[in-house]
Amino acid sequence: YLTPIVHSLSLSKLEMVPHALVAVSAGRVAWVEHLKDRQDPAEAAEKHGIDYEAADKVVVSEGFMCPGFVDTHTHAPQYPNNGLGGSLQLLDWLVELTFPLEQEYDDAAYAAKVYKEVVRRNLAVGTTTACYYGTLHSTTTLLADACAAAGQRALVGRCSMDTGSGTYVEASAEESMATTDLFLQHFDTLPSEAQQLVKPVLTPRFALSCTSQLMADLGKLANERDLAVQTHICENPTEIARVKEVFPAISTYAGVYEAHGLLRKGTILAHGVHLSEAERAVIRRSGAGISHCPGSNTNLNSGAARVLAMLEAGIPVGLGSDCSGGCEMGILPQLRNASTVSRVLAFEGQTARSLSTAELFFLATRGGAELCRWDDVGHFEPGAQFDALWVRPRSPGMWVEGGEAVEMVFEKWLCSGDDRDIGAVWVNGRLVSGASPVEA
Ligand code: GUN
Ligand code: FE
Repeated sequence: YLTPIVHSLSLSKLEMVPHALVAVSAGRVAWVEHLKDRQDPAEAAEKHGIDYEAADKVVVSEGFMCPGFVDTHTHAPQYPNNGLGGSLQLLDWLVELTFPLEQEYDDAAYAAKVYKEVVRRNLAVGTTTACYYGTLHSTTTLLADACAAAGQRALVGRCSMDTGSGTYVEASAEESMATTDLFLQHFDTLPSEAQQLVKPVLTPRFALSCTSQLMADLGKLANERDLAVQTHICENPTEIARVKEVFPAISTYAGVYEAHGLLRKGTILAHGVHLSEAERAVIRRSGAGISHCPGSNTNLNSGAARVLAMLEAGIPVGLGSDCSGGCEMGILPQLRNASTVSRVLAFEGQTARSLSTAELFFLATRGGAELCRWDDVGHFEPGAQFDALWVRPRSPGMWVEGGEAVEMVFEKWLCSGDDRDIGAVWVNGRLVSGASPVEA
């Protein structure tokens, strides 16, 4: 790929290269050459023993390429509810809107239809890696199948929930664990290439949906088999108060998960809006990380998460769209929401400063990938999986003269562009959405 590139080297370091030659082999970045202004790409390729003329090439003469987005927390089955419920708070929203919709996924035909559409749409908005919640039904395997078929990198979790949600609940911890066991077995039946891309994640829905026994069983399984875990934490004040009532012997929400063996590297905690400093310290020590879902936190009136404090504590952080708590698809809107929330916190003197563009883009890509334990995703360093976007101006907000510096097109896109500006999406080197610049 002969192209301008933008990617994160670290939390605070964004690299923009106006002329890069990116060699991709077997789905991974083999090497990257930064070309000086009029340097011949053939000469750069020759250094690596590649005949430039004979090689398969993609030349990006408009826009730039960047790593695909990582959505570290979203609920595929809630897609039909996107845009609803913004007047409610979490626990009422679950009962009134969310649990009734999720119950529909008992129907495999309905599940297959929605899951296929969710994966297609998420790829189109540039989500190359997604960490998905399904429902409690075994039809969640159809979500894994949809990701495998479309070529999306994903963690897919079936909700474990044996208490606290009326008729939408599993009969017992034993039954729940047996269903989880079958669910995990499904991933071994995926085509071998897809097994590298689509993996299971244990999903105790949240502390109020699980008995102590169920959480302990899941914690034991996660530790025995080194499985990823996802759940929700400290999203809403009423939720937190209820957790204290249900687990009176444990003083904090994070403590509840810690006591059940659920806090470890590879655990993704969604929200964390109202975490205390002591809880951040517990999470930091455990290696678990946080999915920041600013759109959802605002829409469900949950609050403003202290992302800067999480980063300063050394906690891994990524961004999550949390469909349908949040109502926008993909991570570009969440990058903006994270920026807005962090600026308001700074305006109000709640935090020392807002998040920088470099930090926001890191959270949207490389930081999210690290949270999902995909360290070779979300950047273009040699050895990285080639999960990439081609961004070129098409939406009305992106009107530019042509020939602009990559810095300007990048900034304009982050602030005023949208998914119409995403021309092509690759996962693991495979084109999964849009059309490659060659054919365009
Ligand atoms: N807590 C428990 N379940 C959910 C859910 O579906 N969405 C959100 N935002 N929070 C939850
Ligand atoms: Fe959620």
